[in-house]
Amino acid sequence: MTACTSVVGLQWGDEAKGKIVDLLTPDHDLVVRYNGGPNAGHTVVCNGKSFKLSLIPTGILRPKVQAVIGNGVVVYPPRFLDECDGLRANGIEVGSNLLLSDRAHVILPYHLEEEALRESAEGRSIGTTGRGIGPCYQDKAGRHLAIRVGELLDADHLRHRLREIVPIKNRLLTALSPQAKTFDPDRLADEYIALGQALRPHVTDTVRLLHDAYAKGRRILFEAAQGTLLDVDHGTFPYVTSSNSSTTGIWSGCGFPARRLTRIVGVIKAYSTRVGQGPFPTELHDEIGEHIRQTGREYGTVTGRPRRCGWFDAVAVKHAVMVSGADELAIMLLDVLSELDEIRICVAYEYDGRQIEHFPAFAHQLEKCKPIYETLPGWKRDISGCRTLAELPAQARRYLDRLSAILGLPISIVSIGPDREQTIFCGCCD
Ligand code: IMO
Ligand code: MG
Repeated sequence: MTACTSVVGLQWGDEAKGKIVDLLTPDHDLVVRYNGGPNAGHTVVCNGKSFKLSLIPTGILRPKVQAVIGNGVVVYPPRFLDECDGLRANGIEVGSNLLLSDRAHVILPYHLEEEALRESAEGRSIGTTGRGIGPCYQDKAGRHLAIRVGELLDADHLRHRLREIVPIKNRLLTALSPQAKTFDPDRLADEYIALGQALRPHVTDTVRLLHDAYAKGRRILFEAAQGTLLDVDHGTFPYVTSSNSSTTGIWSGCGFPARRLTRIVGVIKAYSTRVGQGPFPTELHDEIGEHIRQTGREYGTVTGRPRRCGWFDAVAVKHAVMVSGADELAIMLLDVLSELDEIRICVAYEYDGRQIEHFPAFAHQLEKCKPIYETLPGWKRDISGCRTLAELPAQARRYLDRLSAILGLPISIVSIGPDREQTIFCGCCD
Protein backbone atom coordinates (compact mmCIF):
# COMPACT_ATOMS: atom_id res chain seq x y z
CA MET A 1 0.00 0.00 0.00
CA THR A 2 1.28 3.49 -0.83
CA ALA A 3 2.44 5.31 2.28
CA CYS A 4 0.07 8.09 3.31
CA THR A 5 1.14 9.48 6.66
CA SER A 6 -0.41 12.09 8.89
CA VAL A 7 1.57 13.98 11.54
CA VAL A 8 -0.85 15.60 13.94
CA GLY A 9 -0.54 17.44 17.25
CA LEU A 10 -2.52 15.99 20.15
CA GLN A 11 -2.33 18.99 22.48
CA TRP A 12 -2.73 22.78 22.04
CA GLY A 13 -0.14 23.15 19.27
CA ASP A 14 3.62 23.66 19.52
CA GLU A 15 4.25 19.94 20.03
CA ALA A 16 7.37 20.17 17.81
CA LYS A 17 5.53 18.59 14.87
CA GLY A 18 8.03 20.27 12.53
CA LYS A 19 10.84 18.01 13.74
CA ILE A 20 8.77 14.84 13.17
CA VAL A 21 7.65 15.98 9.73
CA ASP A 22 11.27 16.70 8.88
CA LEU A 23 12.39 13.25 10.08
CA LEU A 24 9.67 11.44 8.10
CA THR A 25 9.93 13.54 4.94
CA PRO A 26 12.72 11.45 3.31
CA ASP A 27 10.22 8.55 3.13
CA HIS A 28 7.71 10.67 1.24
CA ASP A 29 7.38 12.46 -2.10
CA LEU A 30 4.85 15.13 -1.16
CA VAL A 31 4.36 17.11 2.06
CA VAL A 32 0.96 18.76 2.39
CA ARG A 33 -0.49 21.41 4.71
CA TYR A 34 -4.27 21.16 5.05
CA ASN A 35 -5.38 23.64 7.72
CA GLY A 36 -4.63 26.94 9.40
CA GLY A 37 -2.43 29.62 7.92
CA PRO A 38 0.27 32.00 9.11
CA ASN A 39 -0.74 31.31 12.74
CA ALA A 40 1.45 28.17 12.71
CA GLY A 41 5.09 28.35 13.67
CA HIS A 42 7.27 25.43 12.66
CA THR A 43 10.93 25.47 13.51
CA VAL A 44 13.22 23.03 11.72
CA VAL A 45 16.97 22.80 12.06
CA CYS A 46 18.53 21.93 8.68
CA ASN A 47 22.25 21.94 7.81
CA GLY A 48 23.00 23.83 11.00
CA LYS A 49 20.51 26.57 10.12
CA SER A 50 17.26 27.07 11.95
CA PHE A 51 14.27 27.77 9.69
CA LYS A 52 11.03 29.24 11.01
CA LEU A 53 8.17 28.52 8.66
CA SER A 54 4.63 29.65 9.16
CA LEU A 55 2.65 29.08 5.98
CA ILE A 56 4.94 26.96 3.83
CA PRO A 57 5.18 23.20 4.54
CA THR A 58 8.48 22.21 6.13
CA GLY A 59 8.97 19.62 3.36
CA ILE A 60 10.23 22.50 1.20
CA LEU A 61 13.62 22.17 2.93
CA ARG A 62 14.26 18.77 1.31
CA PRO A 63 15.19 18.61 -2.35
CA LYS A 64 12.92 16.54 -4.63
CA VAL A 65 9.97 16.91 -2.27
CA GLN A 66 6.78 18.50 -3.58
CA ALA A 67 5.36 20.92 -1.00
CA VAL A 68 1.62 21.52 -1.24
CA ILE A 69 -0.72 23.99 0.46
CA GLY A 70 -4.24 22.57 0.31
CA ASN A 71 -7.59 24.29 -0.06
CA GLY A 72 -8.25 24.20 3.70
CA VAL A 73 -5.42 26.65 4.40
CA VAL A 74 -5.92 30.43 4.59
CA VAL A 75 -3.17 32.35 2.85
CA TYR A 76 -1.83 35.82 3.46
CA PRO A 77 -0.01 36.49 0.17
CA PRO A 78 2.62 38.97 1.50
CA ARG A 79 3.62 36.41 4.16
CA PHE A 80 3.76 33.58 1.62
CA LEU A 81 6.07 35.61 -0.63
CA ASP A 82 8.26 36.74 2.30
CA GLU A 83 8.77 33.12 3.34
CA CYS A 84 9.68 32.19 -0.26
CA ASP A 85 12.25 35.01 -0.34
CA GLY A 86 13.68 33.99 3.05
CA LEU A 87 14.12 30.41 1.86
CA ARG A 88 15.77 31.48 -1.41
CA ALA A 89 18.13 33.76 0.52
CA ASN A 90 19.23 30.65 2.41
CA GLY A 91 19.89 28.67 -0.76
CA ILE A 92 16.62 26.68 -0.76
CA GLU A 93 15.05 26.28 -4.19
CA VAL A 94 11.47 27.56 -4.34
CA GLY A 95 9.62 27.16 -7.63
CA SER A 96 7.26 24.51 -8.90
CA ASN A 97 8.23 22.43 -5.84
CA LEU A 98 5.80 24.66 -3.92
CA LEU A 99 2.18 24.51 -5.03
CA LEU A 100 -0.82 26.35 -3.64
CA SER A 101 -4.48 25.44 -4.04
CA ASP A 102 -6.57 27.75 -6.21
CA ARG A 103 -9.40 27.07 -3.73
CA ALA A 104 -7.51 28.23 -0.60
CA HIS A 105 -8.98 31.39 0.92
CA VAL A 106 -7.15 34.71 1.01
CA ILE A 107 -6.49 36.75 4.15
CA LEU A 108 -6.87 40.45 3.33
CA PRO A 109 -5.78 43.45 5.43
CA TYR A 110 -9.35 44.09 6.61
CA HIS A 111 -9.29 40.65 8.27
CA LEU A 112 -6.30 41.72 10.35
CA GLU A 113 -8.05 44.96 11.33
CA GLU A 114 -11.26 43.15 12.27
CA GLU A 115 -9.38 40.69 14.44
CA ALA A 116 -7.42 43.43 16.22
CA LEU A 117 -10.65 45.29 17.01
CA ARG A 118 -12.49 42.19 18.21
CA GLU A 119 -9.62 41.02 20.40
CA SER A 120 -9.21 44.43 22.07
CA ALA A 121 -12.96 45.01 22.53
CA GLU A 122 -14.66 44.39 25.84
CA GLY A 123 -15.92 40.86 26.25
CA ARG A 124 -14.38 37.64 25.10
CA SER A 125 -10.77 37.69 23.95
CA ILE A 126 -9.40 34.43 22.59
CA GLY A 127 -5.77 35.48 22.64
CA THR A 128 -5.30 34.80 18.92
CA THR A 129 -2.09 35.16 16.95
CA GLY A 130 -3.52 38.27 15.24
CA ARG A 131 -2.94 36.90 11.74
CA GLY A 132 -6.51 37.33 10.47
CA ILE A 133 -7.23 33.60 10.67
CA GLY A 134 -10.67 33.76 12.35
CA PRO A 135 -12.13 36.58 10.19
CA CYS A 136 -10.93 34.87 6.99
CA TYR A 137 -12.51 31.52 7.91
CA GLN A 138 -15.62 33.46 8.98
CA ASP A 139 -15.89 34.86 5.44
CA LYS A 140 -15.31 31.41 3.98
CA ALA A 141 -18.22 29.96 5.96
CA GLY A 142 -20.31 33.11 5.35
CA ARG A 143 -19.57 32.95 1.58
CA HIS A 144 -20.69 36.44 0.52
CA LEU A 145 -17.45 38.27 1.26
CA ALA A 146 -14.81 35.62 0.60
CA ILE A 147 -11.99 35.62 -1.94
CA ARG A 148 -10.10 32.50 -3.00
CA VAL A 149 -6.54 32.34 -4.32
CA GLY A 150 -7.68 31.51 -7.88
CA GLU A 151 -9.62 34.79 -7.98
CA LEU A 152 -6.43 36.81 -7.50
CA LEU A 153 -5.34 35.73 -10.98
CA ASP A 154 -8.21 37.44 -12.78
CA ALA A 155 -7.64 41.20 -12.48
CA ASP A 156 -11.05 42.42 -13.66
CA HIS A 157 -12.93 39.92 -11.57
CA LEU A 158 -10.88 40.74 -8.46
CA ARG A 159 -11.40 44.50 -8.83
CA HIS A 160 -15.12 43.95 -9.25
CA ARG A 161 -15.28 41.72 -6.16
CA LEU A 162 -13.29 44.15 -4.01
CA ARG A 163 -15.50 47.06 -5.08
CA GLU A 164 -18.43 45.03 -3.76
CA ILE A 165 -16.80 43.72 -0.61
CA VAL A 166 -14.65 46.58 0.72
CA PRO A 167 -17.44 49.15 1.32
CA ILE A 168 -19.32 46.50 3.33
CA LYS A 169 -16.16 45.67 5.28
CA ASN A 170 -15.57 49.36 5.97
CA ARG A 171 -19.07 49.70 7.41
CA LEU A 172 -18.59 46.60 9.57
CA LEU A 173 -15.23 47.84 10.82
CA THR A 174 -16.50 51.32 11.76
CA ALA A 175 -19.42 49.67 13.54
CA LEU A 176 -16.88 47.79 15.67
CA SER A 177 -14.97 51.00 16.40
CA PRO A 178 -15.26 54.57 15.09
CA GLN A 179 -11.44 54.63 15.06
CA ALA A 180 -11.22 51.60 12.77
CA LYS A 181 -8.87 51.65 9.82
CA THR A 182 -10.83 51.58 6.55
CA PHE A 183 -9.73 50.52 3.07
CA ASP A 184 -9.86 51.81 -0.49
CA PRO A 185 -11.16 49.12 -2.86
CA ASP A 186 -9.10 50.17 -5.88
CA ARG A 187 -5.84 50.49 -3.95
CA LEU A 188 -6.44 47.07 -2.47
CA ALA A 189 -7.28 45.71 -5.92
CA ASP A 190 -4.01 47.09 -7.36
CA GLU A 191 -2.05 45.55 -4.51
CA TYR A 192 -3.71 42.12 -4.66
CA ILE A 193 -3.65 41.93 -8.48
CA ALA A 194 0.14 42.37 -8.23
CA LEU A 195 0.37 39.80 -5.43
CA GLY A 196 -1.72 37.42 -7.55
CA GLN A 197 0.82 37.69 -10.35
CA ALA A 198 3.62 36.85 -7.93
CA LEU A 199 1.68 33.81 -6.67
CA ARG A 200 0.67 32.63 -10.16
CA PRO A 201 3.55 30.16 -10.74
CA HIS A 202 2.55 28.29 -7.59
CA VAL A 203 -1.24 28.20 -8.02
CA THR A 204 -2.88 25.01 -9.20
CA ASP A 205 -5.70 22.54 -8.63
CA THR A 206 -4.08 20.67 -5.75
CA VAL A 207 -6.99 18.23 -5.43
CA ARG A 208 -6.21 16.78 -8.86
CA LEU A 209 -2.51 16.99 -8.19
CA LEU A 210 -2.80 14.88 -5.03
CA HIS A 211 -5.02 12.28 -6.65
CA ASP A 212 -2.73 12.00 -9.68
CA ALA A 213 0.28 11.63 -7.40
CA TYR A 214 -1.48 8.97 -5.34
CA ALA A 215 -2.48 7.06 -8.48
CA LYS A 216 1.21 6.99 -9.45
CA GLY A 217 2.17 5.53 -6.09
CA ARG A 218 3.75 8.71 -4.71
CA ARG A 219 3.98 8.79 -0.92
CA ILE A 220 2.17 11.64 0.80
CA LEU A 221 2.77 13.19 4.22
CA PHE A 222 0.08 15.43 5.70
CA GLU A 223 1.45 18.08 8.05
CA ALA A 224 -1.04 19.54 10.54
CA ALA A 225 -0.78 23.01 11.96
CA GLN A 226 -1.87 23.59 15.58
CA GLY A 227 -3.09 20.67 17.69
CA THR A 228 -6.24 18.59 18.09
CA LEU A 229 -7.25 20.49 21.26
CA LEU A 230 -7.36 23.70 19.16
CA ASP A 231 -9.66 22.10 16.55
CA VAL A 232 -12.74 24.26 15.94
CA ASP A 233 -15.09 21.28 16.37
CA HIS A 234 -13.24 19.03 18.80
CA GLY A 235 -11.04 21.37 20.84
CA THR A 236 -11.68 23.60 23.84
CA PHE A 237 -14.21 25.77 21.99
CA PRO A 238 -14.34 28.78 21.77
CA TYR A 239 -10.65 28.93 22.78
CA VAL A 240 -9.56 27.21 19.59
CA THR A 241 -8.44 28.16 16.12
CA SER A 242 -10.95 28.39 13.27
CA SER A 243 -9.98 25.26 11.32
CA ASN A 244 -10.01 21.50 11.78
CA SER A 245 -6.51 21.01 13.11
CA SER A 246 -7.13 17.35 13.96
CA THR A 247 -6.80 14.66 11.30
CA THR A 248 -10.44 15.37 10.43
CA GLY A 249 -9.24 18.41 8.45
CA ILE A 250 -7.38 16.33 5.87
CA TRP A 251 -10.38 15.17 3.90
CA SER A 252 -12.04 18.60 3.62
CA GLY A 253 -8.78 20.57 3.59
CA CYS A 254 -7.26 18.66 0.66
CA GLY A 255 -10.13 16.82 -1.02
CA PHE A 256 -8.17 13.69 -0.23
CA PRO A 257 -9.90 10.75 1.45
CA ALA A 258 -8.52 10.27 4.94
CA ARG A 259 -9.36 6.56 4.73
CA ARG A 260 -6.26 6.23 2.55
CA LEU A 261 -3.99 7.16 5.45
CA THR A 262 -1.73 4.29 6.37
CA ARG A 263 -0.12 5.83 9.45
CA ILE A 264 -1.24 8.53 11.88
CA VAL A 265 1.54 9.78 14.13
CA GLY A 266 0.21 11.70 17.14
CA VAL A 267 2.78 14.17 18.44
CA ILE A 268 2.83 15.11 22.13
CA LYS A 269 5.12 17.01 24.41
CA ALA A 270 6.15 15.24 27.59
CA TYR A 271 4.26 18.04 29.40
CA SER A 272 1.60 20.55 28.33
CA THR A 273 1.67 24.10 26.99
CA ARG A 274 -0.84 26.48 25.58
CA VAL A 275 -0.73 30.05 24.26
CA GLY A 276 -3.61 32.48 24.52
CA GLN A 277 -6.74 32.18 26.63
CA GLY A 278 -8.73 29.11 27.54
CA PRO A 279 -8.99 26.41 30.19
CA PHE A 280 -5.85 24.46 31.10
CA PRO A 281 -6.47 22.23 34.14
CA THR A 282 -2.84 21.15 34.67
CA GLU A 283 -1.33 24.64 34.32
CA LEU A 284 1.47 25.36 36.80
CA HIS A 285 1.73 28.85 38.23
CA ASP A 286 4.76 27.99 40.35
CA GLU A 287 8.51 27.62 39.95
CA ILE A 288 8.12 24.24 38.21
CA GLY A 289 6.03 25.92 35.49
CA GLU A 290 8.70 28.60 35.16
CA HIS A 291 11.45 25.96 35.05
CA ILE A 292 9.66 24.16 32.19
CA ARG A 293 9.20 27.47 30.33
CA GLN A 294 12.88 28.38 30.62
CA THR A 295 14.29 24.90 29.97
CA GLY A 296 11.92 24.21 27.06
CA ARG A 297 12.28 27.75 25.68
CA GLU A 298 8.51 27.93 25.72
CA TYR A 299 7.93 31.23 23.94
CA GLY A 300 5.71 31.47 20.84
CA THR A 301 7.41 31.19 17.44
CA VAL A 302 4.83 33.46 15.80
CA THR A 303 4.06 36.02 18.52
CA GLY A 304 6.92 35.60 21.03
CA ARG A 305 4.37 35.26 23.87
CA PRO A 306 5.45 33.18 26.89
CA ARG A 307 3.60 29.87 26.72
CA ARG A 308 1.57 28.66 29.68
CA CYS A 309 3.16 25.44 30.99
CA GLY A 310 1.87 22.50 33.00
CA TRP A 311 1.90 18.76 33.62
CA PHE A 312 0.91 16.22 31.00
CA ASP A 313 -2.88 15.96 30.77
CA ALA A 314 -3.76 12.40 29.78
CA VAL A 315 -7.51 13.07 29.94
CA ALA A 316 -7.22 15.78 27.29
CA VAL A 317 -4.78 13.79 25.16
CA LYS A 318 -6.93 10.64 25.27
CA HIS A 319 -9.73 12.71 23.76
CA ALA A 320 -7.33 13.94 21.07
CA VAL A 321 -6.07 10.40 20.35
CA MET A 322 -9.66 9.35 19.78
CA VAL A 323 -10.60 12.28 17.53
CA SER A 324 -7.44 12.17 15.43
CA GLY A 325 -7.27 8.37 15.27
CA ALA A 326 -3.60 8.25 16.23
CA ASP A 327 -1.89 4.87 15.72
CA GLU A 328 1.34 5.70 17.50
CA LEU A 329 2.94 8.45 19.57
CA ALA A 330 5.98 10.67 19.12
CA ILE A 331 7.01 12.08 22.51
CA MET A 332 8.83 15.37 22.28
CA LEU A 333 10.99 17.43 24.65
CA LEU A 334 11.41 14.66 27.21
CA ASP A 335 14.81 16.21 28.09
CA VAL A 336 13.05 19.33 29.44
CA LEU A 337 11.87 17.33 32.48
CA SER A 338 15.34 15.97 33.34
CA GLU A 339 16.01 18.14 36.40
CA LEU A 340 12.69 17.60 38.18
CA ASP A 341 12.44 15.53 41.37
CA GLU A 342 9.08 14.12 40.46
CA ILE A 343 6.80 14.22 37.46
CA ARG A 344 3.03 14.17 37.34
CA ILE A 345 0.48 12.86 34.90
CA CYS A 346 -3.14 13.99 35.13
CA VAL A 347 -5.21 10.80 34.87
CA ALA A 348 -8.69 12.10 35.76
CA TYR A 349 -10.48 15.29 36.79
CA GLU A 350 -12.50 16.16 39.83
CA TYR A 351 -15.60 17.94 38.57
CA ASP A 352 -18.60 18.97 40.60
CA GLY A 353 -17.56 16.78 43.53
CA ARG A 354 -17.04 13.61 41.47
CA GLN A 355 -14.26 12.01 39.50
CA ILE A 356 -14.58 12.08 35.71
CA GLU A 357 -12.35 10.50 33.11
CA HIS A 358 -13.80 12.10 29.96
CA PHE A 359 -12.95 15.48 28.47
CA PRO A 360 -15.87 17.93 28.93
CA ALA A 361 -17.33 19.63 25.86
CA PHE A 362 -17.57 23.10 27.36
CA ALA A 363 -14.84 25.51 28.37
CA HIS A 364 -16.77 26.68 31.45
CA GLN A 365 -16.90 23.05 32.66
CA LEU A 366 -13.23 22.41 31.95
CA GLU A 367 -12.40 25.61 33.88
CA LYS A 368 -13.86 23.93 36.99
CA CYS A 369 -11.99 20.63 36.57
CA LYS A 370 -9.26 19.91 39.11
CA PRO A 371 -6.56 17.52 37.97
CA ILE A 372 -6.11 14.17 39.73
CA TYR A 373 -2.46 13.21 39.43
CA GLU A 374 -0.35 10.12 39.37
CA THR A 375 3.18 10.99 40.55
CA LEU A 376 6.33 9.34 39.23
CA PRO A 377 9.96 9.80 40.27
CA GLY A 378 12.14 12.02 38.10
CA TRP A 379 15.48 10.83 36.65
CA LYS A 380 17.65 13.83 37.52
CA ARG A 381 20.14 13.14 34.74
CA ASP A 382 20.94 14.73 31.40
CA ILE A 383 19.40 12.49 28.72
CA SER A 384 20.11 14.63 25.66
CA GLY A 385 22.93 12.32 24.59
CA CYS A 386 20.91 9.07 24.77
CA ARG A 387 20.32 7.37 21.43
CA THR A 388 18.47 4.21 22.46
CA LEU A 389 15.69 3.44 24.90
CA ALA A 390 18.11 1.27 26.86
CA GLU A 391 20.38 4.27 27.47
CA LEU A 392 17.56 6.21 29.13
CA PRO A 393 17.42 6.10 32.94
CA ALA A 394 14.90 3.58 34.30
CA GLN A 395 12.69 6.40 35.65
CA ALA A 396 12.45 8.01 32.20
CA ARG A 397 11.53 4.66 30.65
CA ARG A 398 8.93 4.22 33.35
CA TYR A 399 7.42 7.63 32.54
CA LEU A 400 7.21 6.69 28.85
CA ASP A 401 5.69 3.30 29.68
CA ARG A 402 3.02 4.95 31.81
CA LEU A 403 2.13 7.44 29.06
CA SER A 404 1.90 4.61 26.54
CA ALA A 405 -0.22 2.45 28.86
CA ILE A 406 -2.60 5.27 29.82
CA LEU A 407 -3.06 6.41 26.23
CA GLY A 408 -3.21 2.86 24.87
CA LEU A 409 -0.72 3.47 22.05
CA PRO A 410 2.85 2.45 21.28
CA ILE A 411 5.57 5.10 21.34
CA SER A 412 7.49 5.09 18.08
CA ILE A 413 9.74 8.15 18.52
CA VAL A 414 11.20 9.92 21.55
CA SER A 415 12.86 13.30 21.09
CA ILE A 416 15.47 14.44 23.58
CA GLY A 417 16.68 17.63 21.89
CA PRO A 418 16.10 19.79 18.81
CA ASP A 419 18.69 18.19 16.50
CA ARG A 420 17.82 15.37 14.12
CA GLU A 421 20.36 13.17 15.91
CA GLN A 422 18.70 13.71 19.28
CA THR A 423 16.01 11.20 18.46
CA ILE A 424 15.30 7.69 19.68
CA PHE A 425 13.44 5.43 17.24
CA CYS A 426 11.70 2.81 19.30
CA GLY A 427 11.32 0.28 16.53
CA CYS A 428 7.72 -0.57 17.37
CA CYS A 429 6.03 0.78 14.27
CA ASP A 430 8.49 0.29 11.40
P1 IMO B 1 1.56 25.51 15.62
O1 IMO B 1 1.29 25.05 14.22
C1 IMO B 1 0.07 27.12 19.37
C2 IMO B 1 -3.64 29.45 19.26
C3 IMO B 1 -3.56 30.92 19.61
C4 IMO B 1 -4.93 31.15 20.22
C5 IMO B 1 -5.83 30.26 19.37
C6 IMO B 1 -6.53 31.00 18.24
O2 IMO B 1 2.81 26.26 15.82
O3 IMO B 1 1.34 24.40 16.60
P2 IMO B 1 -5.72 31.96 15.88
O4 IMO B 1 -4.70 33.01 15.57
O5 IMO B 1 -5.45 30.64 15.26
O6 IMO B 1 -7.13 32.42 15.64
O7 IMO B 1 -5.60 31.76 17.50
O8 IMO B 1 -4.99 29.26 18.82
N1 IMO B 1 -2.75 29.00 18.17
C7 IMO B 1 -1.64 28.28 18.37
N2 IMO B 1 -1.05 27.86 19.51
N3 IMO B 1 0.60 26.77 18.18
C8 IMO B 1 -0.01 27.13 17.03
O9 IMO B 1 0.39 26.66 15.84
C9 IMO B 1 -1.15 27.96 17.09
N4 IMO B 1 -1.94 28.53 16.16
C10 IMO B 1 -2.93 29.15 16.84
O10 IMO B 1 -2.52 31.17 20.52
O11 IMO B 1 -4.96 30.64 21.53
MG1 MG C 1 3.44 27.42 17.29
